[in-house]
Amino acid sequence: MNTAARSNGGPAPAVPAGSVEIRPGPFVKWAGGKSRLLSAFDRLLPPGFDPSRGRYFEPFVGGGALFFHLAPARAVLSDSNPELVNCYQVVRDRVEELIALLREHKNDRQHFYKVRSLSPAGLSAAERAARLIFLNKTCFNGLYRVNSRGEFNVPFGRYDNPRICDGENLRAVSARLRDVEILCLPFEQTVRRAKAGDFVYLDPPYQPVSATANFTGYTATAFGDKDQERLAAVFSQLSKRGCLVMLSNSDSPVIRELYKDFRIAEVKASRAINCKAERRGRVSELVIMNYKI
Ligand SMILES: C[S@@+](CC[C@H](N)C(=O)[O-])C[C@H]1O[C@@H](n2cnc3c(N)ncnc32)[C@H](O)[C@@H]1O
Repeated sequence: MNTAARSNGGPAPAVPAGSVEIRPGPFVKWAGGKSRLLSAFDRLLPPGFDPSRGRYFEPFVGGGALFFHLAPARAVLSDSNPELVNCYQVVRDRVEELIALLREHKNDRQHFYKVRSLSPAGLSAAERAARLIFLNKTCFNGLYRVNSRGEFNVPFGRYDNPRICDGENLRAVSARLRDVEILCLPFEQTVRRAKAGDFVYLDPPYQPVSATANFTGYTATAFGDKDQERLAAVFSQLSKRGCLVMLSNSDSPVIRELYKDFRIAEVKASRAINCKAERRGRVSELVIMNYKI
């Protein structure tokens, strides 16, 4: 297991000269990122899954904290956010071009708004990836959020010295992604190919625990009650097929009811991304499993 994986977008650890290669970690900070829950997850992972041999599916990949932590030999990653998926593909396939483009960006308010106003449709794949990483590192709170038209709408963050280009981590991520399938698909299409023994980790946008509490800006379309129900049905199908399935969601009566036939554990999460400072703190989240731990 990748015990040295880094938290989302954080600074690189000091690597002494002549030391072993660096462990790749998330290269974007993502709302709902799981970096702070990894130690709690360690005791909830399926005992029968060996990351050095088994196949791992993460169809709501976001920043991919658990993927980097587990470092599975075989993996299928996907998300329905096309900008994010393009970014993973460019990191995997064209990392040096990406690094060169990132080095041209600067932490400057005027430059930020100019880049934010660009339409991804008019850019090359590598330019789009550099745009996403640049905006993620320099925007307010360091997250990715779009409006109903799919346009990035987070303001400039005014950080003193954000690390726009972490070439060392990007190269390590690129190597880690070399044999990974990366797809832009709705979750149910990705998991159609999962077979008995595969480990599927599902981390959807959470069921809101109140009318205002939850982050909903991952993609132009929201993830609603009907999506949560479809996901619960997919969870059951995967379970019947013999997959090892683990799912994260908020601790709400609706989620407890949807998964009442499975094992449910509570974990305490400290959530950093909430626009209301007083609501940042430790909240209970659920981890649902179809296997014994
Ligand atoms: C909670 S985040 C995942 C966080 C991630 N596990 C991490 O550690 O950063 C949820 C992700 O689901 C994606 N998403 C939303 N609706 C989706 C859908 N219908 N199918 C696939 N992905 C979807 C969003 O774009 C977002 O990246």
